[in-house]
Amino acid sequence: MIQTDSTLRNIKVRFPGQIIIGKNSIVELADEITGAGHVHILIITIDVLLPIIHPVIERLRQQNVHVRINTSITSEPSYRDVESLLKFIAGQAVDVVVGIGGGSVLDIAKIVAAQIENDQTINEITGNGLLRKRGVKLICVPTTAGTGSEVSPNAILIDDADNQKKGIISPYLVPDTVIIDPALTYNLPPEVTAATGLDALTHCLEAYTNIFAHPFIDMYAYEGIRLIAANLAKAVNNGTDENARAQLAIGSMLGGFCLGPVNTAGVHALSYPLGSMFHIAHGLSNALLLPYVMRYNIIAAPARYATVARALGCNSLDTDLETAYAGVDKICQLIKQCGIPRKLSDVGVGKSAIPIMAADAIKITRLLKNNPRTITLSDAINIYEEAY
Ligand SMILES: NC(=O)c1ccc[n+]([C@@H]2O[C@H](COP(=O)([O-])OP(=O)(O)OC[C@H]3O[C@@H](n4cnc5c(N)ncnc54)[C@H](O)[C@@H]3O)[C@@H](O)[C@H]2O)c1
Ligand SMILES: [Zn+2]
Repeated sequence: MIQTDSTLRNIKVRFPGQIIIGKNSIVELADEITGAGHVHILIITIDVLLPIIHPVIERLRQQNVHVRINTSITSEPSYRDVESLLKFIAGQAVDVVVGIGGGSVLDIAKIVAAQIENDQTINEITGNGLLRKRGVKLICVPTTAGTGSEVSPNAILIDDADNQKKGIISPYLVPDTVIIDPALTYNLPPEVTAATGLDALTHCLEAYTNIFAHPFIDMYAYEGIRLIAANLAKAVNNGTDENARAQLAIGSMLGGFCLGPVNTAGVHALSYPLGSMFHIAHGLSNALLLPYVMRYNIIAAPARYATVARALGCNSLDTDLETAYAGVDKICQLIKQCGIPRKLSDVGVGKSAIPIMAADAIKITRLLKNNPRTITLSDAINIYEEAY
């Protein structure tokens, strides 16, 4: 049963020290660094953004800030990538780590910042609350909308030893400063806009319908669903729709606030094997499963799913159950408007992989325990088959 209406569970929410939001707010980065007297900066970003951030980097260099730039992280990062980045800066002073990119770049920036002055190994910090400290300043600038990693205490990395995605969760991973500049997302290709936007929507939706849903977090989750549902198709169809991009950037950040205290559930658990076994991007993996997990869950929380449906833009029908199912139809319609693959069979997943994926997914108990309806091995197989 969802606890939110009857009890008030204790939660701890760590917010970033400062969030700067606005079109072209990336210009504030230089003052954030020089104003605090920092002189050795590591920027982790992607090549495609270098021309856009070039003026800020020039300004930093003119003020005698030593800027090192690394663009090696092009997709979802692994433990080995953390080691390579730490080697890249070995023996050099770094007092600020800046991540400018999608969730892949932000997650690795968070872990590199944590590990610079830390003698714990990456295996020792994997899990919840095991990281002991972060010694250097961390600034995160998201360029997808997205993971919400810029405000979350989570980093998700692939463990090269078993090819599984693992979470490192710690209040020390919440950045000191976040810059939300929707203009950095204008060049994001439509299919990445769609997949990352559906990921953000899933963060909000899985928080709102979570066993551990909390009234304080519901506020972010509901508004995130509303903003993303109303703007995603617009941004996919016209990447420079400034209003849609701005609303999505904010919706994605609201999804990030849901990740620490409540977190995701069945959709994310079932999507992880798609990433680790078939290298399907995180957002697309979630989008492929979202309608099917919703349909499976509704019976366990019809009132909550009816509210989700209203946030998605549906009208109330005669019963919560009917309204809730209308919400699933709305999600299917949104995914269709986004023009991304809709079935596991469209993305090269062999049907014979389903039992293996299901066996992997049900190991992700840290997320499955949050799902409003228990998912067993055979339930997971059925959900994958419906999504096939
Ligand atoms: N830490 C968290 O709280 C959290 C939450 C959810 C997901 N994640 C993790 O985040 C990762 C996925 O992040 P993502 O979905 O943002 O995708 P991503 O960072 O992998 O980016 C997707 C693609 O878009 C490109 N890209 C990014 N910004 C761009 C821009 N502005 N213009 C053009 N191209 C751009 C990237 O280079 C990449 O090729 C996964 O590893 C996932 O597990 C983390
Ligand atoms: Zn996600």
